[in-house]
Amino acid sequence: PTEKGWVANHLHQYQGFWHTTRQLLAVLTCQNQFQAQDTDILLVTTPKSGTTWLKAIVFALMNRVQYPNPEVEHPLLAENPHVLVPFLELKLYIDNRVADFTTFTSPRLFGTHLPLGSLPDSVKNSACKLVYLCRNPKDTFVSLWHFTNKLRTKDMGENSLEDTFDKFCRGVCLYGPFWDHVLEYWKESLKKPERVLFLKYEEIKEQPKVQLVRLAQFLGCPFSSQEETNGVVDEILKLCSFDSLSNMEVNKTGKLASGEEYKAFFRRGEVGDAKNHLTPQMMEKLDQITQDKLHDSGLIF
Ligand code: A3P
Repeated sequence: PTEKGWVANHLHQYQGFWHTTRQLLAVLTCQNQFQAQDTDILLVTTPKSGTTWLKAIVFALMNRVQYPNPEVEHPLLAENPHVLVPFLELKLYIDNRVADFTTFTSPRLFGTHLPLGSLPDSVKNSACKLVYLCRNPKDTFVSLWHFTNKLRTKDMGENSLEDTFDKFCRGVCLYGPFWDHVLEYWKESLKKPERVLFLKYEEIKEQPKVQLVRLAQFLGCPFSSQEETNGVVDEILKLCSFDSLSNMEVNKTGKLASGEEYKAFFRRGEVGDAKNHLTPQMMEKLDQITQDKLHDSGLIF
């Protein structure tokens, strides 16, 4: 099935999820060509759930020994997080071949929005770890709507909040349905906690240190007590904070190979902004769908 639904593009449903034509080709290329390694780390997210933040945090975490003074010298000061941790499917498609990921040093870090069921077989059959990040559906939707608007040009016409909302509720959005995406990974994280770490944007906001320590343990590079005493955890969080990343010169200019400007990935970076944009009825509707979809899963937002 096909629906008009993303900027000016049609969305196509494949394996239960919606993709633009370009993304669908990317997903297929990725499924056919990507060769996972057991040491790979995949950062999996629903769009607008904090992908950029997670990429920065995990990159800084994994490279903390090489860069002991991140304020003075750090790759994040010179490169956007999406360059340092590329999207698996987009990089593969843009290069239109298997990009030479073999030159990446191990453990290789990738981002992806792929639903669990659409991950390449090589990922499914490997021991690589998955860090999954999601965000409450109301803020995710509002962030997605703003992002969509930033990518539209005047001649593309109206992109009303109501219409986009209606589609989101029906599951018609990038990598939607949102709830199915989240639920699949939630269930997988319960079944295989050593393989999938399930994180929420709101929890990182509320307890950044606790979540970062959890992340480091899961990835097999726990902070030593000396590192904790020396403020290494705080330093990473500071480097990767919204204010820090959004004010870096590198993130104010430039764009991804796929066309999105780096600055479009930074807006407010807060929890609860949805109430400034959605009517009480819209908030209630999203709450109701969330309750219906997740009711017996143990997952709450
Ligand atoms: P808002 O639109 O609500 O501000 P993604 O990276 O998955 O595309 O998600 C983008 C969302 O994450 C945007 O949300 C953006 O502002 C927010 N964000 C980006 N960097 C962040 C950071 N360092 N800390 C917290 N939120 C961040």
